[in-house]
Amino acid sequence: MSTLRPAAVIVLAAGDGTRMRSRQPKVLHTIGGRSLVEHAVAAARGTHPKHLVVVVRAHRDRVAEHVTQFDPDVVVADQDEVPGTARAVECGIDALPADLSGPVLVTYGDVPLLTAETLLSLLEAHASAAAAVSVITATVADPTGYGRVVRDPSGAVSAIVEHRDATPDQLTVDEINSGLYAFDLVVLRSLLPRVRSANAQGERYLTDVVALARADGLTVHAHRVLDLWQTEGVNDKVQLARLGAELNRRTVEQAMRDGAIVVDPATTWVDADVTIGADTVVHPNTQIHGATTIGVNCVIGPDTTLTDVEVGDGASVVRSQALLAVVGPGASVGPFSYLRPGTELGADSKIGGFVETKNARIAAGAKVPHLTYAGDVTIGERANIGAGTIFANYDGVAKHHSSVGANTFVGSNSVIVAPVDIADDAYVAAGSAVTEDVHQGDLAVARGRQRNVVGWVARQRAVPAEAADRHTEDPTTEGSST
Ligand code: UD1
Ligand code: CA
Repeated sequence: MSTLRPAAVIVLAAGDGTRMRSRQPKVLHTIGGRSLVEHAVAAARGTHPKHLVVVVRAHRDRVAEHVTQFDPDVVVADQDEVPGTARAVECGIDALPADLSGPVLVTYGDVPLLTAETLLSLLEAHASAAAAVSVITATVADPTGYGRVVRDPSGAVSAIVEHRDATPDQLTVDEINSGLYAFDLVVLRSLLPRVRSANAQGERYLTDVVALARADGLTVHAHRVLDLWQTEGVNDKVQLARLGAELNRRTVEQAMRDGAIVVDPATTWVDADVTIGADTVVHPNTQIHGATTIGVNCVIGPDTTLTDVEVGDGASVVRSQALLAVVGPGASVGPFSYLRPGTELGADSKIGGFVETKNARIAAGAKVPHLTYAGDVTIGERANIGAGTIFANYDGVAKHHSSVGANTFVGSNSVIVAPVDIADDAYVAAGSAVTEDVHQGDLAVARGRQRNVVGWVARQRAVPAEAADRHTEDPTTEGSST
């Protein structure tokens, strides 16, 4: 932990987010598997502040509930009807202990690529400049819409002027205010009441604190960052996608630096919380979401989507989709299979093509190679489930569970009608509809016995066509003959 620890971080997330054109609160939109505000809070949390405040207003309840869900220690502060970033910070400060002092950081809930490292470097620069106010700035090609950093002839920051309030001269300034700050909390408390709303938007601007500090002879420091992505906010869905793509690029690059082999980074999407072991190969068109963890020496993809899946060392998942499943070490899945929640595959087990599993515990070495539905089932070690087997778990009212013991063989095209327990070392004849338990060592045959009708084809062909319509023998009708 850095010795520099902020007294508080205040994350502003009270804005309306109108330009998102969404019924969902802006800061709840996600990139890299986390909401925008979750990214913001993670960066803030990474500075180990004594207090972490999120200021809310628009969609207040939904944002507050979401934030306290992923970080219960966050203090939620409500902004009132007075608009502006200065008012938002005041409301955040109101939620802090009155005697708190030290440096306080202010960030935005819609700036998702900001890192704790950048905030800590801001804190360090703020301390070594002995500044009252420090602001992260950036030089950009197109400063349209941003607050401009106005410097005096000595080069010191004298004010921040919003785009709409800027003079033509100030509009040519290409150094912009990122909206990320460090303040001395005691100074900030004393300056905020002096912030007015005499500007184009009639809002109380936090940026006015810069000129007020200078007027009091205090030091204002500009901390310029080169990585512009870190200061970029999401205002609309175009920016959401742009920042999402950049976050993904960074995440995939980090995965490769950590040892993963990513064949095509451009078509590989990896969420921020995913881990991928060394020498695991990720093939093109693969999405790895949520809290997925993948071991070493695995093969994932192509065309595979994993969400909250645990994949053991040396396993492979090819052209398949899995959600809330565990794939044991050395297991293989696919192509074209679908693992649904509650699927647990043991070591070296096999799920082949066109298999759907749900709430299925499939033990080590067991095989479900072809065209099977395995729902609500426990399958023992080294059991083999023949092609086309269906575990019929639903009777139209309730779901039931079935089990298949170790070393048991289920013949192709069988229906196991739950609840049924098939013991260890048993056999089920192909094409069976199994509705009763099968005991150890037994063979279950549950199908119509085959009967061959001798000479039937020749007799069929001998009869004229119209007569055949009338006289056709139904071979399924016992005892009939012409
Ligand atoms: C703000 C800065 C501008 C800077 C830009 C960087 C001010 C006056 N201007 O402008 O200098 O270049 O950010 O992106 O601060 N918010 C609240 N309550 C409010 C208003 C805003 O919590 O009453 C939050 C928003 O949710 C958002 C952030 O503050 O996260 C910035 O608000 P926004 O309205 O986007 O400010 P900008 O006009 O972009
Ligand atoms: Ca903004």
